[in-house]
Amino acid sequence: MSLRATILATGSHVPARVLTNADLEKMVDTSDEWITSRTGIKTRHIAGPGEYTSILAAHAAQKALAAAGLGAADIDVLVVATISAEMTMPSCACLVQKEIGAVNAFAFDVNAACSGFLYALSVAEKQILADPSLKILVIGAETLSSRVDWQDRNTCVLFGDAAGAVILGSSHRGDGLLAEKLFSDGSLYNLLYIDAAQSLNADLRNEDFQGSSIKMAGRDVFKYAVKAMESAVQVVLDKAGVAVSEVSLVVPHQANIRIINKLGQKLGLDPEKIYINVSRYGNTSAATIPLALDEANRAGRLQSGDLVMLCAFGGGFTWGATLIKWQ
Ligand code: ACO
Repeated sequence: MSLRATILATGSHVPARVLTNADLEKMVDTSDEWITSRTGIKTRHIAGPGEYTSILAAHAAQKALAAAGLGAADIDVLVVATISAEMTMPSCACLVQKEIGAVNAFAFDVNAACSGFLYALSVAEKQILADPSLKILVIGAETLSSRVDWQDRNTCVLFGDAAGAVILGSSHRGDGLLAEKLFSDGSLYNLLYIDAAQSLNADLRNEDFQGSSIKMAGRDVFKYAVKAMESAVQVVLDKAGVAVSEVSLVVPHQANIRIINKLGQKLGLDPEKIYINVSRYGNTSAATIPLALDEANRAGRLQSGDLVMLCAFGGGFTWGATLIKWQ
């Protein structure tokens, strides 16, 4: 059988503090009814003091390592997908390396917003195909609570903090990453962005700058997200020569229950085959897919030989899909 990169183990971590819709009602002019009907979100986890993105990531990594029966020193490459690292330099991945003691790894970040985990998985897969002996930690981790304007009801109800991790190795047994397709369109950047303009040259500073919190054209994002994920999934199914009915579980980016339901309808998916946990965590950007994958794995919803479709959409715009045969 041909060589493939395969997921050996999963792990995830969320901060203990839970912010409910009732809590948000006391912070901004909103209601549980509005948030639930528009987004499907009921609660989200919010990092406390010292719970930086790298710390959440390190906890998720340690759980994945334990599940794989590996030590941190066994890791050769450490990739973190994030848009909310606590530092600009060094990378979040280097801070995770320090935290867990992955002394033999080289470490770097990937920035592709909510699609970041799929991008990181793709980069890691190429490393495995070049050197099958490698063990690679691929993490999606965010503390979006640090990038949200908590006075802005349009956005603050949507996001949460979390980390998810997988360990990638090689396989000749037929399992692993079967097909993928990634996309981006930078011309649409201004529909969803976090402006870090404080560090820009003064001559370039935007007079209307409101601070570096998430800015989003919600309705446009909604429309593009459904279309883009649907077409990415179709491209990947075609590439792999697989019918949608053969897919055991779809693990989509968790931004909004209405996006997920629309996607399911367009693809003609049995609702039972879509993994959904957005009600408990909100949108945790690059962390949503590895967090959902770990939950599904630990709940026994992923059996050997299952075809699992991951798909994502996020700021950039970036989007894509990846089809995996579970090990
Ligand atoms: N509580 C109460 N009212 C609110 C809230 C809130 N939290 N937020 C907005 N509103 C109001 C608006 O002010 C507006 O009032 P107005 O008509 O008086 O101006 C009204 O609700 C309707 O606002 P819309 O933006 O039209 O509401 P919509 O039905 O489109 O829902 C939402 C907004 C949930 C953001 C939706 O557009 C959406 O899900 N978009 C997808 C974006 C997304 O999920 N982004 C996450 C990041 S991107 C990603 O991960 C894919």
